[in-house]
Amino acid sequence: MTTSTTSTVQDITPLSGTIGAEIRDVDLRQPLSEDSVAAIRRALLDYKVIFFPGQHLSPDEHKHFAAYFGEITNAHPVIPGVGEHKEVFELDYSRIRELLAADEQAGEYGDRDKWHTDVTFVKTPPLGSILNAIVIPAAGGDTLWSDTQAAYEGLSQPFKDLVDGLTAVHDGSRTFGKVLDYLGEGEWDGERFTELVPVEHPVVRTHPETGRRNLFVNPGFTRSIKGLTSKESDALLRHLYAHMATPEYVVRYRWNQGDLGFWDNRTTMHYAIGDYGTAHRVIQRVTIRGDRPF
Ligand SMILES: [Fe+2]
Repeated sequence: MTTSTTSTVQDITPLSGTIGAEIRDVDLRQPLSEDSVAAIRRALLDYKVIFFPGQHLSPDEHKHFAAYFGEITNAHPVIPGVGEHKEVFELDYSRIRELLAADEQAGEYGDRDKWHTDVTFVKTPPLGSILNAIVIPAAGGDTLWSDTQAAYEGLSQPFKDLVDGLTAVHDGSRTFGKVLDYLGEGEWDGERFTELVPVEHPVVRTHPETGRRNLFVNPGFTRSIKGLTSKESDALLRHLYAHMATPEYVVRYRWNQGDLGFWDNRTTMHYAIGDYGTAHRVIQRVTIRGDRPF
């Protein structure tokens, strides 16, 4: 990539004790130096989710910024992108509500989000995603992120010993199965498919860059833990979800139009708060390809 830049990425303000930081001294419409890219990558690993207020990027600039950090994926394994931008996923619940009203096939979408980590129902869930705030309500529509590494570290040693060797089954069909049936086929990592087959991931994964361990289950897509009875699996997952959503592990971000938010999908889960009624909220997302969790 090119080496000219207007900034050095030094003005990093943490937003909570363990997760989230704001970076203000960088113009992401300008080419980034290798040092700037390395500093942003470092901040992402340190803070798990980083925000760049007031960037106002176009879809092309959004994709260009994401490409510094890896290979860009399709918008979503099932849901198509926006117009000619097949890598841009648009989150617009007023559109989803219209779809729901018009078509029973739209799947299990509602006003309420669930805590989730994006796309864990495929073998290679994303490294991370970058959000671009396009239309933001006057009040409401904040997003929460949970630090699943801090949550893992907050478990007692006997509990860590219990979860360390477990494997979970992740299934996207409850949320996206009907949409996939309706659309006919989806594509992820170059693989086309017509049904969402459940996949397995470790309950505790190791971060491929930091080597640190984190919980990797989420209410959105984790169906069960292998080898446990359904009662045991439900109870254990319920406990882990409540633990991961503990406020000490969570940062809440209030968006303004033009803000950019970049999260590490390997070590966080998130929740978009549906508290803005019929007000309009549009956020676009570009996603970076990830590895198989281990
Ligand atoms: Fe999400």
